[in-house]
Amino acid sequence: MKIILGPASTALGEKIADLTGFGKVSTAHKTFPDGESYVRLEDNVQNEHVVIVQTTSMPQDTRLMQLAFMANAAKRNGAQKVTAAVPYLAYARQDKMFLQGENISIETVAAMLKAAGVDALVTVNIHAEDALNKFPFPSKNLSAIPLLADYFVKEGYGKAFALAPDKGAMYIARQAQAVLRGEAGYLEKQRDRYTGKTSHTGKDFNVKGQTAIIFDDIISTGGTIVGAAKILRELGATHVFAACVHPLLIGDAETRILDAGVEEIVGTDSVPSHTSKVTLAPLFAEWLRAQKSG
Ligand code: R5P
Repeated sequence: MKIILGPASTALGEKIADLTGFGKVSTAHKTFPDGESYVRLEDNVQNEHVVIVQTTSMPQDTRLMQLAFMANAAKRNGAQKVTAAVPYLAYARQDKMFLQGENISIETVAAMLKAAGVDALVTVNIHAEDALNKFPFPSKNLSAIPLLADYFVKEGYGKAFALAPDKGAMYIARQAQAVLRGEAGYLEKQRDRYTGKTSHTGKDFNVKGQTAIIFDDIISTGGTIVGAAKILRELGATHVFAACVHPLLIGDAETRILDAGVEEIVGTDSVPSHTSKVTLAPLFAEWLRAQKSG
């Protein structure tokens, strides 16, 4: 196996290559004056199973095109198999037709990647795992929640309360709870499908005097975490933290979250930023090693 260092995830790709001992394929990339993307593989991939490490966070469309171009380049240059390792898979939240006239964006993305040459895909905490069932190639979803929870254990917050900001994220809180070994619970969240605005209703659980950590897959505008943090503070939590796999942190999300009483935001290098305190490298490395030996 060889790791192709996608331009959006070069540092993560390097770490995965170091942990696995797999060879590295560097990439050259540029943007043409009209905004179009260009990518070239700088090392030999003949007869190799290549793993392209490329996140598709902002700018999503550019990074998706780069991924498709790398897959096509790998196949055209003799790669025997192309696996896309995509920490943040763009468009995964549009996995249904919520309103009449909509499309299913993630289906289109998967079809495009297949056409480009992708044979398999591995991602992390995709918003709804069911979306992978419709992909035209074998796909795997890994969870980084245990790694995030472990960060807090190492910081001395074992036994903290793991909060899911909505019922659908309770499986995430349960994964965190298994590492933290404290209590877990969820809030009721309502989202307006037209405005995207969310509101929360508190549940009956006791966080008074406790450390509480809100776990979510994504922080985008921060509205979800802000609503949850306010409720935790009202319920008397002493320390409130926010942990997520994909810290998109659009606009002033970070400021709004900290203003709502969150002491620290902890994310992963799925979307590299100063909140990326946890690396996904061991997660990918373990899965890739298992693929090689299996
Ligand atoms: C939605 O259900 C997701 O799990 C996240 O809670 C959501 O995407 C976060 O978005 P925002 O930060 O804009 O509230």
